Amino acid sequence: MNKITITRPDDWHLHLRDGDVLPDLVSHTARQFTRALVMPNLRPPVTQVAQALSYRSRIQEAAITAGYPDFQALMTLYLTDMTLPSEIEKAKEAGIMGVKLYPAGATTNSDAGVTDLNKCDSTIAKMAELDMPLLVHGEVTHSVIDIFDREAAFIEQVLEPLRKKHPKLRVVFEHITTKQAADYVSQANTKDYGEIAATITAHHLLYNRNAIFMGGIRPHYYCLPVLKREEHRQALLAAATSDSTRFFLGTDSAPHAQHLKEHACGCAGCFTAAQAIELYAQAFASVGKLQQLEKFASLNGPHFYGLPVNQSMITIEKIPQKIPLSYPMGQDLIVPLNAGESLEWSILG
Ligand code: NCD
Ligand code: ZN
Repeated sequence: MNKITITRPDDWHLHLRDGDVLPDLVSHTARQFTRALVMPNLRPPVTQVAQALSYRSRIQEAAITAGYPDFQALMTLYLTDMTLPSEIEKAKEAGIMGVKLYPAGATTNSDAGVTDLNKCDSTIAKMAELDMPLLVHGEVTHSVIDIFDREAAFIEQVLEPLRKKHPKLRVVFEHITTKQAADYVSQANTKDYGEIAATITAHHLLYNRNAIFMGGIRPHYYCLPVLKREEHRQALLAAATSDSTRFFLGTDSAPHAQHLKEHACGCAGCFTAAQAIELYAQAFASVGKLQQLEKFASLNGPHFYGLPVNQSMITIEKIPQKIPLSYPMGQDLIVPLNAGESLEWSILG
């Protein structure tokens, strides 16, 4: 298979940042995707509906500036210990698509995150009642738990008890990185408990943790949750290309200025937005499953979020392209994942 035409995809997990970088960042995503679910981990975080709505209008303005007036930003709220149930009511009315749980300290800009989920109990109960999905960064943060085990520990210690406590709550397990998470999501009981789905990034489908240490330390392959062993990459690839409707595309493209990645304490996040769908095509083609890409990239996500699928189509063809060494991002540069390497697939048109 050298060419595939699919329904235009959406990105269900994206970091767009804010301010003068928005037009540069939005244009990469809008070239391929009709909609993106935008993460709320700004500084300060997007904890209130009013902030989310003004952030959305800045993104939409940037999309117009970038020449993509039809791009749609879908918004999320950042859950804190202080989020009130009344904010969830407002969020539902305002069309906010989900509320993001960052365990405090788990990742970039998560210091305002949740310190103890019990403090959020009435807010989460309201989410279950109003069918507002909880989007989880699924890692525990205790210093005694090894960084490679944090996702698996989260399933047992947090996710399973949470779903039992709130049996109507719908959950998206974001950017899963382990076999344990893929198995948990595909086998989860959704008859007695709320629906569960997972996003998977292109980089976790393409790379194992060796990529971070290949010939020296490679900061552009460092993200959270961190890349895992090969057996986990294979399990993710099997899940993404399976017939399950519970897995969908979320790039977790997370741009940081070059000088903050190439640093003594480099930021976590891989920038993949510029070639996202081509990277996914490469991963799916590597196991001969390109025909499963449309479900994963364009159908399963809208189905979970109760939105129509996109009307237009895109064509991806086996034409090699070279990934640029960097892109402008406002006053800075960003280095994409795979910078300077070649990619086998390109979008036509
Ligand atoms: C993200 C970021 O930079 O905002 N970083 C990352 O490594 N993925 C935050 C996140 O999604 O964890
Ligand atoms: Zn993210």
